[in-house]
Amino acid sequence: MKIMAGNSNLPLARAICGYLETSLMDASVRRFADEEVFVEIHENVRGEDVFVVQSTSFPTNDNLMELLICIDALRRASAKRITAVVPYFGYARQDRKPGPRTPISAKLVANLITQAGADRVLSVDLHAGQIQGFFDIPTDNLYGAPVMAADIQARYSVSGDLMVVSPDVGGVVRARALAKRLNNAPLAIVDKRRDRPGQSEVMNIIGDVAGRTCIMIDDIIDSGGTLCNAAQALLEAGAASVSAYISHGVLSGGAVARVNASALKELVITDSILPTEATQESGRIRILTIAPLIGEAIRRIADESSVSSLLD
Ligand code: R5P
Repeated sequence: MKIMAGNSNLPLARAICGYLETSLMDASVRRFADEEVFVEIHENVRGEDVFVVQSTSFPTNDNLMELLICIDALRRASAKRITAVVPYFGYARQDRKPGPRTPISAKLVANLITQAGADRVLSVDLHAGQIQGFFDIPTDNLYGAPVMAADIQARYSVSGDLMVVSPDVGGVVRARALAKRLNNAPLAIVDKRRDRPGQSEVMNIIGDVAGRTCIMIDDIIDSGGTLCNAAQALLEAGAASVSAYISHGVLSGGAVARVNASALKELVITDSILPTEATQESGRIRILTIAPLIGEAIRRIADESSVSSLLD
């Protein structure tokens, strides 16, 4: 088994290698003068089981091209099996046609990865579980929830006044799954309406949050609007405190400043996306690593053993 990485999140790729007690494959992924991606593999991969670690996060298009070109290079070098390990799968939010004459970019990207030569895909908290079905190759979708639940159990009294909150109606299944891991904690839902992308408006809170320690869970924080507005609304409804656990810290534009100035007590994200300097310096944001989770899944795929038991 060999691990290769693009440039999107080298610290995570190295941490995965640390878990697997191996080192990154000797390869370079760099740019020509005109910014075209150039990949060179400096060791023999003929007949090898290769895992390419690359999140398609910002700069999304560059990171996606790196992933595709890494896969192409491996295929042409006769790797036996190529697994695209995409901790954060970008373009996932366009997973259906919300209106006429709009694309389904999640399907397009699934096609690109498959056509480039990937034999399987490993990702974490896909925006929608159905995206697995956009691939006609085996696709494992790991959950960050066990890592989050362990952290919550270590920091909060789960038998007390804890309440799990979904910041929008679409995230109820995810929130319910976390609540189940936390001794069946009660659930509340924020009914969010969005007029246009990047802007959110809280309309209603379903559930009695008064006096509760609220833990919001979501897959993505992008502009931060959803979470910051929801945190404010929860406090106004009487919540004792509001924290958030989010799988993918996209945190674009002024999101970190928005979080720093928000009513959120703490934002906890994973390292599926390389944190920016602003994220690392924020006293309000904490990062949990998913390197052991991904590393264990890679080990099991390579050993042909069960990955689904990791989801329990
Ligand atoms: C939406 O369906 C997602 O689950 C997130 O709630 C959304 O992407 C967050 O975006 P923002 O942080 O820009 O409000």
